[in-house]
Amino acid sequence: MDSRPALLGGKPIIEGELPPENTIDDAEIAAVTRVLQSGELSGFLASAGDEFFGGKEVRKLEEDFRKRFDVKHAIGLNSATTGLHAALVACGVGAGDQVILPPTTMSATAASVLLAGAVPVFADIDPLTFNIDPASVEARITDRTAAIIAVNLFGQPAELDELRRIADAHRLRLIEDNAQSPAALFDGRWAGTIGDAGVFSLNRNKIVQSGQGGVVVTNDDNIAFRAQLVRNHGEVVLDQMPDKPYEPLVGSNYRLTEPIAAIANIQMGRLEKLTADRVALAEQLTEGLSGIDCLHPPTIHPKATHVYFVYPMRFDSEAAGMPRDLFVKAMTAENLPIYAGYTRPIYLYPVFQHKPDKRVPALFGQPLPDYSAGICPNAERAHSHDLVLTDICRYPLRSEHVELFVQGVEKVLGAAKELVRSAADR
Ligand SMILES: Cc1ncc(COP(=O)(O)O)c(C=O)c1O
Repeated sequence: MDSRPALLGGKPIIEGELPPENTIDDAEIAAVTRVLQSGELSGFLASAGDEFFGGKEVRKLEEDFRKRFDVKHAIGLNSATTGLHAALVACGVGAGDQVILPPTTMSATAASVLLAGAVPVFADIDPLTFNIDPASVEARITDRTAAIIAVNLFGQPAELDELRRIADAHRLRLIEDNAQSPAALFDGRWAGTIGDAGVFSLNRNKIVQSGQGGVVVTNDDNIAFRAQLVRNHGEVVLDQMPDKPYEPLVGSNYRLTEPIAAIANIQMGRLEKLTADRVALAEQLTEGLSGIDCLHPPTIHPKATHVYFVYPMRFDSEAAGMPRDLFVKAMTAENLPIYAGYTRPIYLYPVFQHKPDKRVPALFGQPLPDYSAGICPNAERAHSHDLVLTDICRYPLRSEHVELFVQGVEKVLGAAKELVRSAADR
């Protein structure tokens, strides 16, 4: 191995690109072909009756989710973003309500709150797990709070027992954004099923995917029906379903198509194996990093399992003798997949910084929550200093790729002084 870092002109650890993450196979192609040949590309109609609830493939997907995650209802939609919006409305969250959520998440978590006409309030994260900190949630509760969104981030459930306790004590709804953690467990229960509603994603970069897609799960009959109304122009059928409770709400078009649901049905059959492979590689990586004191493997809550949507690490720049961003730059030059931080804390996005009173529609005279820099110091520090991510455990990468990753870490850290000197000279 060339010990000179690739950033300084040496030979990179990996030559060329890693294979792309393509989990689509003949079975998906056959399933889509079958649906296309049937001519039924969507089973939905926005009118009272059986077709209000979608076609065969959508219902098969919903049945799979119900059985797999041991939950009473599953509602297939065209994304997790729309699923989060449907879940919020279904849980009764609306204009003027406050919803507490973490700032370290994909923007959709916060956008869904705005789409529901409600007011996002950000609680800080735990600096070790990067998940929302229940103590910070509790401190942010006001008499306007209606719900908490727990994001099960990077593949690990948030502290769902504590969040459930807080939600129950304050009579709030708990919604799980489980886009990143299908098949993870908390206290022996499936992530996504501990909240009043849980939302899964099937978008293109998830562990299993159908390009786009989402599923809301719940054990509550009324939440399930309301989510179905939001999915399919519910206002049209409100007075035409005598067997259902009247629900004064406006729906949208969040319908999932049959070909996409057919892909999702095949992909769901791969979830267990794809997850097991990720976990095996992640455990190998954790073992490989065990002697490296400046790069800490994921901290896993004692009641949780991790499915490693991505593998999060904490970087200690003092112990490393180099800044995090230089380390990441040097690893990237070795052609190893690594990223500094995740999303910047969501409240720092322009939507909250630029005329936020215009974006947060339903203040009803209440003051705008504080969206200034510094409100969630752990989230800010993780993004700017501590957090490093890799997806080296993804399909179809193997044990040898993980070995190369560890070798890359050792190589770059071994050249820390040289890299720092060279960066200072530039
Ligand atoms: C945490 C989280 N929430 C929500 C979403 C939105 O999912 P979708 O793309 O299915 O709308 C994502 C997608 O990346 C996500 O990672």
